[in-house]
Amino acid sequence: MKIEVTELIRKALEARNSAYVPYSGYQVGAALLTEDKKIYCGCNVENASYGATNCAERTAFFKAVSEGERKFKAIAIAGGLKGKPITDYAWPCGICRQVMQEFCGPDFQIIVVKSEDDYKVMSLAELLPHGFGGESIT
Ligand code: THU
Repeated sequence: MKIEVTELIRKALEARNSAYVPYSGYQVGAALLTEDKKIYCGCNVENASYGATNCAERTAFFKAVSEGERKFKAIAIAGGLKGKPITDYAWPCGICRQVMQEFCGPDFQIIVVKSEDDYKVMSLAELLPHGFGGESIT
């Protein structure tokens, strides 16, 4: 698992470089690990109509789901202002947590990253307790 974590972190940091952030300058990269060990990366993609912006985590999820993936183990997320060192952990926003809830179980691992050696791992259950899911409406 340690090797997987390091690789996910590297890929999240790399994906950050593709962030399209002309409005906030806040670059986010994400790397999503499937249960069969494939990795899908994503970055945030902003829009002049701000609400049309897509977060890095959702970019990664939607890429994976649109390729047929449905089972996920972990996601690494790295965010910070362009051209500056990463100073804080990039916690996923509420909408991204809800998208995780749609496709992941309570043990899904969320790795927030400052660097390869400085990160935190938390479960979806910790970041979204009592989440709302499809089982309530089907
Ligand atoms: N952002 C993400 O990519 N992920 C999050 O979980 C929080 C916010 C992006 C959206 C926007 O491009 C920028 O960060 C500032 O909100």
